Amino acid sequence: MESSQKIKESEELLLSLPKAKGWLSPGLSLYQGFYCPSKIVPNIISFQNHFQAHDQDIVLASKPKSGTTWLKALAFSIVNRKRCDQLSNCALLKSNPHELVPFMEFSLYANNQLPDFSTMSYPRLFSTHIPYESLPESIKQTNCRIVYICRNPLDIIVSHWHFANQACLEHNTHWTVEEFAEAYCKGEEAFGPFWDHMLGYHKVSKENTNKVLFLKYEELKKDTLNQVKKLAEFIGFPFSKEEESQGIVEEILKLCSFGNLKELDVNKHGKFMPYFENKSYFRKGEIGDWVNHLSDSMVEKLNKVIHEKLNGSGLTF
Ligand code: A3P
Repeated sequence: MESSQKIKESEELLLSLPKAKGWLSPGLSLYQGFYCPSKIVPNIISFQNHFQAHDQDIVLASKPKSGTTWLKALAFSIVNRKRCDQLSNCALLKSNPHELVPFMEFSLYANNQLPDFSTMSYPRLFSTHIPYESLPESIKQTNCRIVYICRNPLDIIVSHWHFANQACLEHNTHWTVEEFAEAYCKGEEAFGPFWDHMLGYHKVSKENTNKVLFLKYEELKKDTLNQVKKLAEFIGFPFSKEEESQGIVEEILKLCSFGNLKELDVNKHGKFMPYFENKSYFRKGEIGDWVNHLSDSMVEKLNKVIHEKLNGSGLTF
């Protein structure tokens, strides 16, 4: 349990932060230069104050709707492929990926509780939507590894808009896709501005290739086999020649494929995260669905922002 003094300090800080409209009640707060759902600011502070990373830890980082669920499924099955005697017994068949690889700020450090890590086996797998700059120092200072998944912002916006509008919220306010896109242009979106988020991890991935592996959803879709091999190697679980010839990599791709995960009972009918049913994490799973939702003028406006903000970074979509 977090101390009452620390809870009071977080609450006071939260009240003092600049606010923006957000679809998740009661909106967004600007904390350390990024907007986050106001209700999880205390969780983030607690995570920053208490988390002690270990060298073997693996942290999966992303902006919401970039392919986090897929990355969790892949990393979990790569790490655990030898723990379950066959992949057909993998826990992924019975549990949603978010249950198996918990979010620091939504699950582990929620409700003023401090997590009990004593039963977790190494390497521990965690996830977060927090920008690189705001991660706890121990994540940066230890040899723990970070895998970041990035996605075309236009697809993120469309995916996020669908997700927001179908979430089971008590006081759900309907947003048009234009309102959503406008908020992204201003950087007033969960864990945004998106350009700062992406550039923060991108920079470290270039400077320290052992620290951050920067993946793109689009490349993972187009060349899943090689991207997954790269992921396995980075997190310290490379596939042996024998495993490759036995078709283990392909088995993992199939297990974690959109079609397979979406159709699992647990993902069709279950609910793990507060507010969201498991099925809301599996919509279309395609590249370029933005063409079906964003007007030409909105695309032009967004592309201008993307160009201006990412210009010179080497990050393109
Ligand atoms: P769409 O809404 O475009 O379909 P996140 O996991 O970060 O919340 O991102 C969700 C997006 O990833 C959704 O995109 C979802 O359909 C897609 N997705 C989920 N599982 C996937 C998988 N196994 N393969 C490919 N895409 C997946």
